Amino acid sequence: MDRPDLYQIFYVSRSLASPQQVQDILQHSRELNARRQVTGSLLYTGGHFAQVIEGPAATLAETMVAIAADSRHDNVRTLVKGRLAERRHGETQMAYTEAPGANELIANLIDTRRVNTKRAQRVLDLMFQP
Ligand SMILES: Cc1cc2nc3c(=O)[nH]c(=O)nc-3n(C[C@H](O)[C@H](O)[C@H](O)COP(=O)(O)O)c2cc1C
Repeated sequence: MDRPDLYQIFYVSRSLASPQQVQDILQHSRELNARRQVTGSLLYTGGHFAQVIEGPAATLAETMVAIAADSRHDNVRTLVKGRLAERRHGETQMAYTEAPGANELIANLIDTRRVNTKRAQRVLDLMFQP
């Protein structure tokens, strides 16, 4: 059986967005993602973002180019990129979590040269909480 055309990207970034802009990003992303069959989860600490996006290779790459070029954040660092057997976000165009306590954790993931996989996993765990 062919493997599905399904990939994920997990990145972290430093926020330059106002609270209103975060709401705009969320609303706009949900609309765009619904059209492109992209699903995922966004985490916001007040100072940083973490996001997982999942979808077909071509649309995911397009979406990531747009995200990386967005001036409402910088220091975008991709931590995980790869194939997925199945979506973890199902029908959720973009779940949203606020986690002020994870600010230093993400700052650290951006700053350190080698990706600390345990720290990266801790951020993912916060996003995938039921
Ligand atoms: C933290 C962050 C997360 C974003 N997430 C998404 C996303 O999941 N999907 C998306 O299409 N755009 C996302 N964007 C917005 C894109 O960067 C960009 O604004 C949008 O794709 C361009 O839309 P437009 O072509 O209508 O101008 C995000 C932006 C930021 C700053």
